[in-house]
Parts: sequence; C-alpha cells; structure tokens
Amino acid sequence: MNVLIINASPRPKGNISRMLNVMEEEAVRVGMQVSSIRVSDLCVHPCTGCMVCRSKQVCVLPEDDAQRMIRLIQACDVLIIGAPCYWGNMPGELKVLFDRMVYGMMSESPRGIPRALHRGKRTVLVSTCTTVYPFNILFHQTRGVIRALKEILKWSGFKVVDTIEVGGTKQSPVSEKKLERCRRVVRKLE
Ligand SMILES: Cc1cc2nc3c(=O)[nH]c(=O)nc-3n(C[C@H](O)[C@H](O)[C@H](O)COP(=O)(O)O)c2cc1C
Repeated sequence: MNVLIINASPRPKGNISRMLNVMEEEAVRVGMQVSSIRVSDLCVHPCTGCMVCRSKQVCVLPEDDAQRMIRLIQACDVLIIGAPCYWGNMPGELKVLFDRMVYGMMSESPRGIPRALHRGKRTVLVSTCTTVYPFNILFHQTRGVIRALKEILKWSGFKVVDTIEVGGTKQSPVSEKKLERCRRVVRKLE
C-alpha cells in the first residue's frame, strides 16, 4: 500500500508534525510504502484562475512542485493530511497547493459535470488548534479545517475514513493517548 503524508504545519516539532511522524513510523513498521511531504518545503506559484486546466487538463504555469505533488497523489492509495487550524481553516500554503492541483483531483464534462479522479482511494485528516475541546468543534476551528479538506477530497473521490481533531494545544501539547490513536488509525488502514 502506497501512503502519501502531507504535513501543512510549518513547525517541524509542532503537534501536527509529532502526530504525522508517529503515523509514518507505524505505517513503515507494518510494511506500507510511505512518502512524506512538508508543504512549507514546496515551491508553488498561486493559481492565476485562467481555467485552462478545466478543459485541457494541463496547467499553463511553469512546472513547479504543484505538478510534482499531483504525480505523488496519483501514485498513492492512501492520503494522510495534517493541517493546523489557521483562522478556522487550513493554512494558506496548503490551500494554494490544492488550488493549483484542481485538474489533478477532478475533471469536468463539457457541460460542467464534475468527475472525481481518485475514486477508491482513502484519506485520513488530522487537525490541531489552540481553542479547547469542545469549542474547537462547536466553533468550527479544527472542525472548519476538516470541513474544508473534506470538500476538496470528497469531490476528488477520496473516502474520508478517519479524522483526528486536537484542541487546546496551547495548554497541553498533543498527548501520548492521541499519539496512540494516530498509530491505531494507521493500523486500521491495513
Ligand atoms: C496564523 C495562525 C492562525 C491561527 N488561527 C487559529 C484559529 O483560528 N483558531 C485556533 O484555535 N487556533 C489558531 N491558531 C493556533 C494553531 O492552530 C495551533 O497553535 C496549532 O496547534 C498549531 O499546530 P502545530 O503545532 O502543529 O503547528 C493559529 C495559529 C497561527 C500561526
């Protein structure tokens, strides 16, 4: 099984990174093939909104890491995305990346009917924020991130098999219990 992990936190020792690191370790331990990408290491020009990719399935911008990421997503069976909550949503860098990858995620018929390009694949979504539980859910903080990611991934054909939301990271960084949950979620993918 080919697992792609996308880390949208710029903090290498932050909460998302710790959770994704244990997920990667567990995936490797059980024999999965894992590629791990940090969005802050990528070079991605923002989408110019020309819409050419909707009809031609190609981006008119010079090749950068957006096209490379499309190839990695095409090659994966399972996509794990970790994104901290920034203003109730995913970090801008991740949104810029998804905007550039739209033609690699879904296509449209000439009459504008959407067609998902990743049917049969699975995804796990992870988010953190400082707003404490249950307000991270009730006030759409981590829940806002999960909702926005689901919007993209469901239209792309991915089945969301698990979500992990951690609130209150200012008071207490992600606990061993949550890390164990991350490992369990990976084992369930087998
Ligand atoms: C630019 C920015 C915006 C943020 N916006 C929110 C927010 O809207 N709600 C919230 O609860 N936390 C917010 N936070 C806090 C982060 O979500 C929190 O520190 C998170 O745990 C960071 O994850 P990391 O440790 O994995 O990098 C924000 C942090 C930054 C840097």
